[in-house]
Amino acid sequence: MVMNTVEAGLAVVIGSSGGIGAAMLSQLEDDGNYAQAIGLSRRTETSMDYSDEASIGKAAMHVADLCEKSNLQLRLLIVATGFLHGDVGQPERSFTNLDSDYLHQVFKVNTLGPALVMKHFLPLLPKTGRCVAGFLSAKVGSIGDNALGGWYGYRASKAALNQLVKTAAIEMSRRNKDSICVSLHPGTVATALSGPFAKTGLNVRPASQAAHDLLQVLNDVNLLDTGCLVDYQGNRLPF
Ligand SMILES: NC(=O)c1ccc[n+]([C@@H]2O[C@H](COP(=O)([O-])OP(=O)(O)OC[C@H]3O[C@@H](n4cnc5c(N)ncnc54)[C@H](OP(=O)(O)O)[C@@H]3O)[C@@H](O)[C@H]2O)c1
Repeated sequence: MVMNTVEAGLAVVIGSSGGIGAAMLSQLEDDGNYAQAIGLSRRTETSMDYSDEASIGKAAMHVADLCEKSNLQLRLLIVATGFLHGDVGQPERSFTNLDSDYLHQVFKVNTLGPALVMKHFLPLLPKTGRCVAGFLSAKVGSIGDNALGGWYGYRASKAALNQLVKTAAIEMSRRNKDSICVSLHPGTVATALSGPFAKTGLNVRPASQAAHDLLQVLNDVNLLDTGCLVDYQGNRLPF
């Protein structure tokens, strides 16, 4: 991959324990395009859990310390966390399935957590030079693209995430005219999140391929893309 960054600095992957996040971190470590790449998750030594805002603040302080000690700037922030199904529930087929506990969980992980990541991590991005923040979203969060219905909570939580990304992109541009903030659609990827729903006939790609494509997109995105939902091929999708 040919680097587009003005100055290679630190890359941080939040959700580095997940299928896509782990593959992105591993490729960032291997390709050497950034001076350093680190992962954060509920399982890393500096652990961060969306149920505990203080843990997000501590993780951000850890990154700030690392930047200072290593004399590096945070040039790439990837948020690869997400939730679709689990003990608390499954995506809804009908409005009759709507459930408060499931809705709280899906909004906590897909919307509130990334919002708190914005609060604590976006101020760490440099005020000059190219820097990119990419938030893993999903095409099913697109209201314009919704032709099938179902998955109320997941769709709504990702639509809300897209609005947060758009809003943060505007604020980031005022702070640094070369900053870029995008929502990313990875396609259907073989991970624990998609496993039960990866029907035959869908183009299900391995996490390594998705990670490669997404890193290429994050390298290629330009100022016209900021605030947009961009898919793994670099196409802007409707909100
Ligand atoms: N896979 C697909 O087909 C697909 C399609 C469209 C969009 N996406 C999006 O892509 C992103 C990555 O998905 P994936 O397939 O890699 O999913 P995954 O393998 O299930 O990974 C999910 C990640 O989210 C983290 N997470 C869950 N709850 C958390 C919490 N309370 N606090 C902090 N972190 C939490 C997990 O951490 P733990 O390991 O600690 O649980 C894990 O790192 C998600 O935003 C997903 O919506 C995926």
